[in-house]
Amino acid sequence: MDYQAVLEEVAATAAPQVGRGQPAGYIPALAGVDLGGFGMAVADVDGSVTGVGDWQVPFSIQSVSKAFGLALVLARDGESLWGRVGREPSGTAFNSLVQLEYENGIPRNPFINAGALVVTDRLQSLTGDASTSMLDFLCTQSGNPAVSFDPQVASSESEHGDRNAALAYLMASYGNLDNPVPTVLDHYFWQCSISMSCRDLALAGSFLARQGVGTDGSRLLPARDVKRVNAVMLTCGTYDAAGDFAYRVGLPGKSGVGGGILAVVPGRCTLCVWSPGLDLRGNSVAGVAALDAFTSLTGWSVF
Ligand code: DON
Repeated sequence: MDYQAVLEEVAATAAPQVGRGQPAGYIPALAGVDLGGFGMAVADVDGSVTGVGDWQVPFSIQSVSKAFGLALVLARDGESLWGRVGREPSGTAFNSLVQLEYENGIPRNPFINAGALVVTDRLQSLTGDASTSMLDFLCTQSGNPAVSFDPQVASSESEHGDRNAALAYLMASYGNLDNPVPTVLDHYFWQCSISMSCRDLALAGSFLARQGVGTDGSRLLPARDVKRVNAVMLTCGTYDAAGDFAYRVGLPGKSGVGGGILAVVPGRCTLCVWSPGLDLRGNSVAGVAALDAFTSLTGWSVF
């Protein structure tokens, strides 16, 4: 596969979508971001990485971190997580409160905010420092020691984090958090604030295409668990747009309101695309268009 030629064609196809949509206005530090950015990277399972556009420009990974959080907890703790969080699509917004009370404080899946707060709580119990353990993992797997938290984004989100706090306190009232709510929220916000490029994220997610083996050759997860993470990404990774994402792209994917999307072609490569303009469900408009173009051009969807 001539990745460079494919990426250039994909970028040209997605170009009319760049600048469309809105930034994540509810996080002030992200509200003013320039909507004109677009980058995309492919990390092949052989370890090579190819990119186009702003593929080396760091952006706020936001909910893309939720895919790594799930993998880190499954790697350390196996199946017990599933007693505290489900694995069904929610059909509601990523920060919705309504289902949580009906379902007794058990979030629908680990990729909506409530579910990721439970995952963060478990990672905190397992490691003693959930956000640093995720950052260390991302630095190692991307091979880039400069991957870092963005304190401005973390504190901006913390100052405007009433909805996440409401989700966390509601779950605490059902006994579904082990650590104090402020601790869980802090680590969750720090994880979301991590700043990385498409290059870094595609490499860091390589284990998802390599049956659990990371870029450093170490086994991070059994192949069986990688199948499970990819399945939850496919069904829940883009929230109440997961059906549309599967229809258009046909790959496991995890989006974030920073405009990034990580997608996996099992056995072949990991893709990361970034463009900050979001649709109404919080997914990058140009990012989804680019992934649609990539799988249409290559035929590399899981279907
Ligand atoms: O908690 C939040 O709302 C954000 N830190 C993350 C949300 C997000 O990225 C949803 N993704 N599309």
